[in-house]
Amino acid sequence: MNVEMATDSHSDSAMRGMAATVVFVAMLLAALSIWTAIPLSWIYIGSKVSHTQFPSNMPYLVVAVGIVVALVVTMTGLGVFHATRNRIRHAPGSLSGKQLFTQYCDRCHGVDLKGDANFPSVIAREVPLAELTTLLREPKGIMPRFPDLDAIDVQRLCDYLAERRHAAAR
Ligand code: HEC
Repeated sequence: MNVEMATDSHSDSAMRGMAATVVFVAMLLAALSIWTAIPLSWIYIGSKVSHTQFPSNMPYLVVAVGIVVALVVTMTGLGVFHATRNRIRHAPGSLSGKQLFTQYCDRCHGVDLKGDANFPSVIAREVPLAELTTLLREPKGIMPRFPDLDAIDVQRLCDYLAERRHAAAR
């Protein structure tokens, strides 16, 4: 493994961050459309209908039904967007320490956590939570930053490393 790997995972998490932002903006636009574009266009359609020979309460009916339908569709859409966004940036607390390590760490530190010629073992010594947090938030060397990992994730990773370190020492 070499420095290219580090750059790779950098752009990887940048891509995920970008995808999450796009979904967020789409959610925002959908939410705004509930109160603007959708009712206005139904009122417009209703006003067109009123020029025909239909009874005069028809436009109001079209507007009322249209707004209800639009609301239901938009709210359902928002639910889907929300779920997608959570999947992109895994829901907080949804992954165990082992799963987090597999997703974010083992390509460098190895599935046995012992590293190789280029990457250090992560079970050779105890790495306290505070140090691990700093390592992942403001890395000094070629290890990438992990903006996706929140405090719970880092805690779980820390516990997982300790668990594997104890198991290896036995
Ligand atoms: C792109 C490769 C890469 C990835 C991915 C990576 N690391 Fe590292 N890690 C390194 C390198 C290289 C070092 C040595 C210090 C440095 O150069 O940053 C290191 C150092 C460490 C250390 C300090 C080891 C010691 O005893 O000093 C810990 C702990 C650690 N990494 C944990 C993790 C965890 C947890 C993850 C996953 C969230 C992770 N690393 C993901 C490359 C990586």
